[in-house]
Amino acid sequence: MSFKDKLIENKVPKHVAIIMDGNGRWAAQFGNERTFGHEHGVEAVRSVVEGAGEIGVKYLTLYAFSTENWARPKDEVDALMGLLVQAISDETDELQKSNVRLQVIGDVKSLPQHVQEKLSWSIDRLKTCTGLTLVLALSYSSKWEILEAVKRIAEQVKLGKLEPSDIDTDLMDCFLNTSEMPDPELLIRTSGECRISNFLLWQIAYSELYFTPKLWPDFRKEDLFEAICDFQNRERRFGKTSQQLIS
Ligand code: FPP
Repeated sequence: MSFKDKLIENKVPKHVAIIMDGNGRWAAQFGNERTFGHEHGVEAVRSVVEGAGEIGVKYLTLYAFSTENWARPKDEVDALMGLLVQAISDETDELQKSNVRLQVIGDVKSLPQHVQEKLSWSIDRLKTCTGLTLVLALSYSSKWEILEAVKRIAEQVKLGKLEPSDIDTDLMDCFLNTSEMPDPELLIRTSGECRISNFLLWQIAYSELYFTPKLWPDFRKEDLFEAICDFQNRERRFGKTSQQLIS
């Protein structure tokens, strides 16, 4: 029985977030440059987007480029930007056929102009799609996002449009890049690293975390289904006791 067959249909998470890690190590296994790993990482992205759509996930957020990734060698950054533009050009038709919408979170203005233009083109082409929303986190870090939200809230207070007492978790949610999405119920990280790396820190307060040793270029939709099966077998208590959940 495949993991897909084992899934409980009404317990599929609405939002899955993934830290795609291990491209460099995957390439090194074959004595290749890191960019070889990123290239093969695109195949994993394709498979996972397809799988998420098949089982009715509503939001899939992929950590594709962090604020900290700007510090990588220029060649690698350029290659990643090139791959992104190429993947968007190649895949937008297919995404449209599969009814996938595209969104971006992060400091989009810091991306090269041609990357911004390609993203806007694809977002616009896919804006009427109603199936899965693929969210790319680009030039993203959670501390950046939270600081931006705090600055904008402070501005509203200064203008007299908000009172300090209006600031609560719901208001904060509205000022984050993810304001229109539910929080991820499941966060997956590949490559055996067990850390969060500045990703969705506010939004994962109650997410289930799933770490797999598989390197990202080897990850496929069946691995996503396995992670979701694992998620479906967990008891999510949100601070309550097991007894309270059944009564
Ligand atoms: C982490 O592996 C991966 C990245 C920083 C980039 C992810 C990019 C892709 C999968 C390709 C393009 C993406 C899209 C959405 C089309 P790493 O380089 O940190 O690997 P390492 O930890 O083994 O060095």
